[in-house]
Amino acid sequence: MAWQKHLAPRGLFWRSLLIMLIPLVLLQCVMAYIFYERHWDTVSRRLALGIAGDVVYVMHELQQEQSILARKWILDAAKREMQIDINMENGAILPNDAPRLSSRIIDRVLHAAMAERMNFPFHIDTRRPDGKLSIRIQLPNEVMNVLTPRKRLDSSTTYIFVLWMVGTSLIVAALAILFLRNQIRPIRRLVHAADAFGKGQDALSFKPSGAREIRQAASAFIKMRARIRRHIDQRTEMLAGVSHDLRTPLTRMKLQLAMLEDKEKGSSEIKEIIGDIAEMEHMIDEYLSFARGQEGEAPVIADLSEMLQAVIEGYKNNGVNISFLKTSPILIPVRPQAMKRCLINLIENASHFGTEVRIKAKLGDVVAEIIIEDNGPGVSDNQKEEIFKPFYQVNTARSPNTGGAGLGLAIARDVARGHGGEIRMSDSDMGGLKAELKIPI
Ligand SMILES: Nc1ncnc2c1ncn2[C@@H]1O[C@H](COP(=O)(O)OP(=O)(O)OP(=O)(O)O)[C@@H](O)[C@H]1O
Ligand SMILES: [Mg+2]
Repeated sequence: MAWQKHLAPRGLFWRSLLIMLIPLVLLQCVMAYIFYERHWDTVSRRLALGIAGDVVYVMHELQQEQSILARKWILDAAKREMQIDINMENGAILPNDAPRLSSRIIDRVLHAAMAERMNFPFHIDTRRPDGKLSIRIQLPNEVMNVLTPRKRLDSSTTYIFVLWMVGTSLIVAALAILFLRNQIRPIRRLVHAADAFGKGQDALSFKPSGAREIRQAASAFIKMRARIRRHIDQRTEMLAGVSHDLRTPLTRMKLQLAMLEDKEKGSSEIKEIIGDIAEMEHMIDEYLSFARGQEGEAPVIADLSEMLQAVIEGYKNNGVNISFLKTSPILIPVRPQAMKRCLINLIENASHFGTEVRIKAKLGDVVAEIIIEDNGPGVSDNQKEEIFKPFYQVNTARSPNTGGAGLGLAIARDVARGHGGEIRMSDSDMGGLKAELKIPI
């Protein structure tokens, strides 16, 4: 149910703890209820009746004896055997006051017990400063003052019971917290390792531990991580090999052309071939950096704002107007080469398609955000995701081929995700494309 979802704590720790403690507390409440309702009620009633019975008994005895000696003997016996301290006030009249009872239930029980056993008017005071219970009874021509210690009315089991209840609950709760903590820790470690791997920091060593299911999940994760690493390594090796092999004949061709150039200076065919070769080199570089990914580069704390500034410098003389307001330093952990590649690819696209490029950077609470917008033709909505695919290019009259390989955005997104971030495309109010790069800090 919706409200349950709302109320239930999100973390496994608190959930498990509640699952353990709620039944415990419920059980104790039921037990306490039964105890008070049955046991305590009976016990306190008996105690009260005990006092009332003693008092009434002594009173009857006194009323039957007229000799002073015998009466004294009765009073002494009452004091000795029943802890009932009595003195008689001859000729006194009991004022018609309301009983002075403390807020404890037992006091009212005592009052009720007295009323049940006693035919004479009486007054009970349980709020005496010396802690004793005072019962005064109006007899035909005297007042009988009774004092008895409060402990005759108290049943110690009440306190012991409550103490045990609270004590055992506390012990159980402490044990539960202790054990649960240990159960949750391996899950946290697994989360941490998976998170780190997602961000590309896979040097983290991690051993499965904890309950069987958690260990199974952890070793499944470790196997998956190894498989992914192997896959990436194979891809890297293959593409690096191919690109490297292509580079050798390409370099040879460049050399031969350079020698030719001396003889036929300025020939347009040769210029075209040189241009093509430069383009091929650029593509091979991209293949290589795509294949390499961010392998082998360690994250360092760098200033994104500084980095942007440096990249923009390289595009100053292209006839493109790039505006960038340098902000206060955005210091976050990045792989500098890879992040630079990512920024270059985004800015390269923007300055290729537009004449006006606007770049903004800001540091939020949880993410650093870089926005790169241009006034070019933009990209239709259904292609905003497509253009991230490797080798995908739009190729229309409005956005002609860039001459690249179509890997720029694939690499950029790879880098962003390798930092735990993401790149999203939308429409810029400058008319072209707006790329938003977000990196968590
Ligand atoms: N700012 C932009 N404005 C309009 N279209 C864009 C923009 N950026 C990218 N595109 C489209 O997305 C395609 C893919 O871009 P991507 O950067 O991946 O490859 P590329 O620029 O063609 O080649 P490479 O970057 O590998 O040299 C581009 O070919 C282009 O059609
Ligand atoms: Mg590009």
